[in-house]
Amino acid sequence: MRILVTGGAGFIGSAATAALAAAGHDVLVLDSLRPDVHGARSRHAGSPHPALPDGVPLVHADVRDGDAVRGALAGCDAVVHLAAKVGLGVGIGDIDDYVSSNDLGTAVLLRAAADAGSRPPHVVYASSMVVYGEGAYACDEHGPTSPPPRSETDLAEGVFDPRCAACGRVLRPGLVGEDAPADPRNVYADTKAHGERLLASWTRATGATATALRFHNVYGPGMPRDTPYAGVASIFRSEAEHGRAPKVFEDGGQRRDLVHVDDVARAVVAAVEQPQAAGRVEAFNIGSGTVTTIGEVARLVAALLDAPAPVVTGEWRAGDVRHVTASSAKARTVLGWHARTSLAEGLAQLVA
Ligand code: UD1
Repeated sequence: MRILVTGGAGFIGSAATAALAAAGHDVLVLDSLRPDVHGARSRHAGSPHPALPDGVPLVHADVRDGDAVRGALAGCDAVVHLAAKVGLGVGIGDIDDYVSSNDLGTAVLLRAAADAGSRPPHVVYASSMVVYGEGAYACDEHGPTSPPPRSETDLAEGVFDPRCAACGRVLRPGLVGEDAPADPRNVYADTKAHGERLLASWTRATGATATALRFHNVYGPGMPRDTPYAGVASIFRSEAEHGRAPKVFEDGGQRRDLVHVDDVARAVVAAVEQPQAAGRVEAFNIGSGTVTTIGEVARLVAALLDAPAPVVTGEWRAGDVRHVTASSAKARTVLGWHARTSLAEGLAQLVA
């Protein structure tokens, strides 16, 4: 298949591009090499690009540039749309850049894909587990519930777990499934959820196929470092490499599912090769299936680098969710995909 990967020079993008090329596909990358993500690498605008396998052409353009996207899409059977501004952001001042990069970027891509003729390409969209907000919980008294955002008062008092809206009891976290309603809690999450909505409207209008992969916390070699887009494993690595103790927010008990970038790249290949029903978006949670806590990630990274033990600071970030872990059973059943890399193995690679 001929496949366009937007954001293909990025962290997940370069791994996905390599996996698609290794699977025998004819791959082409469109990437703006935004300096706030790529730093000095943004100067490598020509082909070959150091992050890309030999022979993979790079179109140096922004996904909001309709003409460039239309040109790159010519003759493509599928597009993997990874170009996005990620992370929680530096502050509300990022709001317009998130909406422009993610919502408008997706809209321009979908319009160009619809223009591609009678058979629009299959779209694989990088969604996120953040679309679920707090995800699935249960109250001992009131059963399954979806809690509202945590209150500043609770956070200031060190009550980090969400409470039941009916009785105020602290809730028990569970695994969220794909049919859980979207309930985004920050601007980035809003844009990822809206991207899925746009995709749903686009598939209905075009009769095309689209798959949304709701990635969990992706980590591994090539992770952005020392940028606002660095995930927590990369931040902990930077601290530990400098002999400093990783700083763990809240009480370190926040639960996440860290999934290795090579496993995510294999999920992209599976989603490209197996389009689902036409006229709708099929969503899959893409996690390792192993729930861990941020405190545990900090301990593992510090130990691997012989750094001081992590410090639990009790600070919190506005817009952060407490626990998000999902069931990735559907991806296993439908796509035949499951993660292979254990956290211990993956973190050892990250610090190597
Ligand atoms: C991450 C991704 C996001 C992706 C989502 C879903 C980044 C920056 N964000 O969001 O793009 O959509 O996963 O997979 O990669 N923390 C600390 N100490 C620190 C920094 C963070 O304790 O120095 C804590 C945070 O409070 C949070 C957890 O680590 O509880 C994870 O933070 P982060 O890596 O930023 O990821 P998410 O917000 O989960």
